[in-house]
Amino acid sequence: MKLITVNDYEELSRLAAEYIKAQLLLKANSNLGLATGMTPMGMYENLVKMYQNGEVSFKEATTFNLDEFLGISPSSPVSYYSYMMENLFNHIDIKKENINIPLSNPENEEKACNEYENKVVKKGIDLQILGIGTNGHIGFNEPGEELNDKTHVTNLKEETIKQNEKLLVERGEESAYHIPKRALTMGMGTILKADKIILLANGSNKKEIVSKMLHHNINTNLPATFLKLHKDVTVILDKESSPF
Ligand code: PGA
Repeated sequence: MKLITVNDYEELSRLAAEYIKAQLLLKANSNLGLATGMTPMGMYENLVKMYQNGEVSFKEATTFNLDEFLGISPSSPVSYYSYMMENLFNHIDIKKENINIPLSNPENEEKACNEYENKVVKKGIDLQILGIGTNGHIGFNEPGEELNDKTHVTNLKEETIKQNEKLLVERGEESAYHIPKRALTMGMGTILKADKIILLANGSNKKEIVSKMLHHNINTNLPATFLKLHKDVTVILDKESSPF
């Protein structure tokens, strides 16, 4: 793992956006793996600005989101579909047919998982952006006795639901909506198939889990440790989340 520590969230967001821009300059038809949550919001803001300044185009790019809540409509303010539209896709030149986000209300969940897995694996992800949960989850691969390698349905941990409530507070929707208890997520194996991975973490509340990820052996109770098996992971931290 390569570690980069920057001063603050602004710098982290700019640097992460620069990595995506560089990827698209090198290969316009890149397949990008995208994450949601509080962490990448600044990165998306920078990418929108870069697009508006004519520095980057998403015209040829394809995107795959890591995960989505289940049991809600895609248009719900809770959904990651809404998050992605509002934070990025509504503001850039990506083709709608090149956007892939797991379905939040599939008729057949197992079929939806298999189809998403097959699509991701067939296309292959050039650059995957990740956040990290305070419990060490990656995507919605929650800590436990076993990790699922492929795209699957998962029951969310209480701390994950709490962490996501911050997104609702950010939108002023916390009294009207609840975070669902189930989600569909790429598996740890799906994620590790990406060519390059960038993990972002900021804020003092991530310091402990970042330290554990770096110092503990690979174990399913800390899914982020599995990233040590990957040959090209860059971890971008701000000073507050850095254990050093
Ligand atoms: P956060 O979530 O960016 O909202 O902290 C990260 C994650 O759960 O992967």
